[in-house]
Amino acid sequence: MAHLLLRHRDIPNLDQLDVYVKNGGFEAFKKAVTAMQPDAVTEEVKASGLRGRGGAGFPTGVKWSFIPKNITPHYVVANADESEPGTFKDREIMDFNPYQFLEGLAIASYAVQANLSFVYLRGEFYYLAKKLDACIAEMEKAGYLGDNLFGTGFSLRLRTHLGAGAYICGEETALLESIEGKRGQPRVRPPFPAVVGLYSKPTVINNVETLANLPYIVTNGAAGFRKFGTDKSPGVKIFSLSGNVNKPGNYELPLGATFRELIMGCGGGISDGRKLKGIMPAGASSSIIRVDDTNLDKVLDTTMDYENVQSVGSLLGSASVIIIDDSHSMDWVINKTVHFFKHESCGKCTPCRDGNYWMLHLVERIHEGHASAGDIQLLKTVANQVNGKCLCALGDFSTMAVTSALERFPEDFHVGQA
Ligand SMILES: Cc1cc2nc3c(=O)[nH]c(=O)nc-3n(C[C@H](O)[C@H](O)[C@H](O)COP(=O)(O)O)c2cc1C
Repeated sequence: MAHLLLRHRDIPNLDQLDVYVKNGGFEAFKKAVTAMQPDAVTEEVKASGLRGRGGAGFPTGVKWSFIPKNITPHYVVANADESEPGTFKDREIMDFNPYQFLEGLAIASYAVQANLSFVYLRGEFYYLAKKLDACIAEMEKAGYLGDNLFGTGFSLRLRTHLGAGAYICGEETALLESIEGKRGQPRVRPPFPAVVGLYSKPTVINNVETLANLPYIVTNGAAGFRKFGTDKSPGVKIFSLSGNVNKPGNYELPLGATFRELIMGCGGGISDGRKLKGIMPAGASSSIIRVDDTNLDKVLDTTMDYENVQSVGSLLGSASVIIIDDSHSMDWVINKTVHFFKHESCGKCTPCRDGNYWMLHLVERIHEGHASAGDIQLLKTVANQVNGKCLCALGDFSTMAVTSALERFPEDFHVGQA
């Protein structure tokens, strides 16, 4: 099947404006601006069932409809922070199919009547910011950005903004703080960004991959989009596959494809002929799915969509699927995840700041073989004190691997000599 998002794999040089235009580029944006009312675009996206690809899976059209019409200006911000360990899909889109993403951003901007929209990139994506700046300049020259677009009264300008390399700035309100030049820390909600967002104005924040779906939806309609995926999770998804597989990489599959298709099919199976032990479907923020001889087929035949991954005790999130083979102990795995979250906690909420500090001490002690039985119990307690008690989901994320590993792989946690 031809790709919908990773189209550059089928069409060489798709990152050149003339090639993109020759292959139908900007026809969807033109159609939206010249032949559709803004609300009609939102309704079509609602009907398509497109759900946010940044992790939470919130329906995109519904999010747009929260923007109040009587408070202006409106902004759209593309979330290109992509910092979840194991996620590397937005980078591929921006590097090789940038115009499809920018066209999606332009369509979203028209739908909510934003005349200035932003792309927020993690600091390490400096080279991509330069690339997008060049694409934006080409679009301006070709008349796809600027004033009176396609002879209508609609104007649009796009700007890139680089962060400084903080995971927290992928969280949408910390991201807005960062664009405003402040320290990237989450805001208290409510009010939500749809009402009080960037510069205190109504703002839509969407992930890069979410936006890259929009040209297809406008061109082919909701029904065309719904030909892929499941009823509740329509469309295709880019799965970033990494860890102990033979062929790691990005794979575009319909939502509802099985773990077997991804891991054994696309990924060529577990590397070095080892056994599958655990799956983290949503990067470092995942609850770890336990796989053993008793449930191997059940897990591999589970469909990957926003509903069904829950049936094996985890969430799809941004679909950054990390494979863990039986050479790894889960105390080592959570050592890695807690190190990351301890480093990335922004420090605003005490449970996350102090909890991750203590979790790190405890997982290190366990991993080094010096843990007492009390330490393992204490790790559970600290994780419970973090979960659900912070302004943003980073705190929750930091506990997912810890609590699931302790519950599902107790044999990997040993009491040592104190
Ligand atoms: C700690 C944290 C980090 C996040 N990082 C990202 C990220 O790198 N990219 C992203 O698109 N969303 C990220 N999100 C989710 C965003 O807050 C937001 O839900 C998303 O950008 C909305 O876009 P969508 O509706 O298109 O998915 C993160 C959330 C949290 C709590």
